[in-house]
Amino acid sequence: METQSIVTQVQLYQFEELAPDYQKIVTLAKEQTGKSYSPYSHFAVGAAVLMENGEIFAGSNQENAAYPSGLCAERTTMFYANAQRPDVPIKAIAIAAYTNDDYLEDPVAPCGACRQALLENESRFGQPLQVLLYGKKGIYFVESIKDLLPLCFTKESMQ
Ligand code: THU
Repeated sequence: METQSIVTQVQLYQFEELAPDYQKIVTLAKEQTGKSYSPYSHFAVGAAVLMENGEIFAGSNQENAAYPSGLCAERTTMFYANAQRPDVPIKAIAIAAYTNDDYLEDPVAPCGACRQALLENESRFGQPLQVLLYGKKGIYFVESIKDLLPLCFTKESMQ
């Protein structure tokens, strides 16, 4: 038996340290929390994606009285971008969450299903999808969604 370690590197940025395009999607993700439909959880999540061609799409979580019928902000936004631009890779996604009259102190953690769905974009387009997680204390930046989903399952896993 041997013990192996899987190491994830996360960079903590202050907003001013981010490049302008990344500042733009973080700001949009924060703004989008105001457009969330979350009457059940009161947990408003916003997301914005930066496409490889420079375009930006944004969205928010959409809840439903039948709870599982709702959808997280990340997938709402990513699927919208994919539907509009099926041939353009998503370069980066920014996520923010607002609840109890404030943004979260710690960077928001995307759910497992969203991590898996975002990962599909990496294997679909063959390039990393960067992730920016907003919190009041700073923004976590990861180079690839794979970093948030170690030992992941993709189409390559079936070959
Ligand atoms: N939610 C997101 O939009 N993204 C996540 O990554 C975590 C959870 C939403 C789903 C639901 O509308 C609310 O937050 C509470 O779970």
